[in-house]
Amino acid sequence: MQEFDVVLPDEAATLALGAALAAALQADAEGGVIFLNGDLGAGKTTLTRGLLHALGHSGAVKSPTYTLIESYEAGGLSLHHLDLYRLGSPDELDFLGLRELMVPGAVFLIEWPQQGGDWLPLPRLQIDLSYDGEGRRAHLYSNSATELLKRLKSTITTCD
Ligand SMILES: Nc1ncnc2c1ncn2[C@@H]1O[C@H](COP(=O)(O)OP(=O)(O)OP(=O)(O)O)[C@@H](O)[C@H]1O
Ligand SMILES: [Mg+2]
Repeated sequence: MQEFDVVLPDEAATLALGAALAAALQADAEGGVIFLNGDLGAGKTTLTRGLLHALGHSGAVKSPTYTLIESYEAGGLSLHHLDLYRLGSPDELDFLGLRELMVPGAVFLIEWPQQGGDWLPLPRLQIDLSYDGEGRRAHLYSNSATELLKRLKSTITTCD
């Protein structure tokens, strides 16, 4: 297990972590499922916005709270941003056509993944966002994406 923490004192820091993750994902091009865990308002969508803008996406990054999924092509990557907060049951994921989207190299950023139950594949990387005073804190961990995490760690300031 590779893991580390990042302190995010303000929104700009959350956006910067997203940008660093974008660069790491572009470098390895393997894609995969990333779980974004954390309470309401913890910064999951903000991190996704930083990631997409760093990849060159210039439009809005809407929270997929009601649409459940928003898909993007940016920086040479196919990305799918999901927010499962309002998912009635994991079966509904079938109707989203999620299986068809799970092609090699595709990136999935999933908010509220616990709502997907066993339906979702195991994540390649997990990011737990939590409140920390006025700011936030991120805990990143993975069993399999150790190179990705090493690359990411080398580009940001971490803490113990
Ligand atoms: N590091 C930070 N410090 C302070 N505020 C932050 C930080 N990161 C994000 N925010 C702010 O937190 C608010 C909520 O962020 P965001 O919408 O990304 O949360 P979320 O985790 O996606 O919530 P939800 O579960 O409701 O989708 C935004 O106003 C954003 O600017
Ligand atoms: Mg959100």
